[in-house]
Amino acid sequence: MEQKHIFLIGFMGSGKTSVAKCLSSMLGLELAEMDQTIEKQQDMSISDIFSTYGEEHFRNLETKLLIELQEKEPMVISCGGGTPMREENIKEMKKSGKTILLTASPETIYMRVKDSHDRPLLEQNKTIPYIKELMDKRQPKYEQAADHIIETDQKNIEEICEEIKRKINQ
Ligand code: S3P
Repeated sequence: MEQKHIFLIGFMGSGKTSVAKCLSSMLGLELAEMDQTIEKQQDMSISDIFSTYGEEHFRNLETKLLIELQEKEPMVISCGGGTPMREENIKEMKKSGKTILLTASPETIYMRVKDSHDRPLLEQNKTIPYIKELMDKRQPKYEQAADHIIETDQKNIEEICEEIKRKINQ
């Protein structure tokens, strides 16, 4: 299959949603936000999906959506923070596009997520040590999935988008 989509991956709060919006308008591509799409498809919030059906069910919905998106015209796709944790999802992303990993320090992530309440995995654990622990555990999978890595600490959204544009045009 043609390598057409741009997948933004990375930890919760790494900036995927905001960067995806900016990048899609900069490149003139459609935008898909996986969490929002799943919420619309299920007519339920992510938190309710987790609490009613559990994390495994949510992960199955992510895999199903990645497969559905393969049929679409080229898009910028903002993934959930846990999407690359499944080997199968990495394969599905690589089939139809390039993946850009956004990184940030645990301190930066904490500042970005501390006032939100829509991330069930962080809700009871919103601390820098917990964020660091989960990030370290996930890092190998993020790196395995990534075609390009962009650090986002101290950068604004436009700078990050420009950097992505340069990388994908190299
Ligand atoms: C998750 C990240 C969330 C959302 C869900 C699980 C994760 O997305 O998919 O709460 O496992 O890291 P964001 O990264 O957009 O917050």
